Amino acid sequence: MHRAVCPGSFDPVTYGHLDIVGRAARLFDQVTVAVLVNESKSGLFTVPERIDMLSQAVADLDNVEVVSFRGLLVDFCKEHDIAVIVKGLRAVSDFDHELQMAQMNSSLAAVETVFVPTSPQWSFLASSLVKEVARLGGDVGDLVPSYVVDRLKQRLAE
Ligand code: PNS
Repeated sequence: MHRAVCPGSFDPVTYGHLDIVGRAARLFDQVTVAVLVNESKSGLFTVPERIDMLSQAVADLDNVEVVSFRGLLVDFCKEHDIAVIVKGLRAVSDFDHELQMAQMNSSLAAVETVFVPTSPQWSFLASSLVKEVARLGGDVGDLVPSYVVDRLKQRLAE
């Protein structure tokens, strides 16, 4: 059984994330989407809210599960018998930091990183930009699923 993890903050999930998760699900037998619980950074959405939105988004993918994790990603991988981290690369600008993390992770444990190039239509997409555009009243309906649009409207109105 070839298992992989797609880790991230997913605050909130975008079509860019879902592009990578869907492609990982075709490459591996089992894919775990792991949402980082970051004690030092509060997001727009709580981790359970992010998991809820992600779970709706991957409901049609039989071999994908969504969970949260704390601490080192490689420890999570070891505990769940996962040998591969899948990361999307949107542009060359992503590469420096992603390479550094991949090398750190493989030096900490026998966990390899596989980079999947983001589909060109999503290469500009980031959760931070989606939140900024939504906050300023822009339309993000082409960038995230409709229930994420609804949650964004709700949260930003609070
Ligand atoms: O969506 P993000 O915020 O770019 O995801 C970053 C994430 C969660 C993949 C990264 O911060 C991570 O793996 N954090 C877990 C802590 C860890 O293992 N740190 C060492 C990484 S080299």
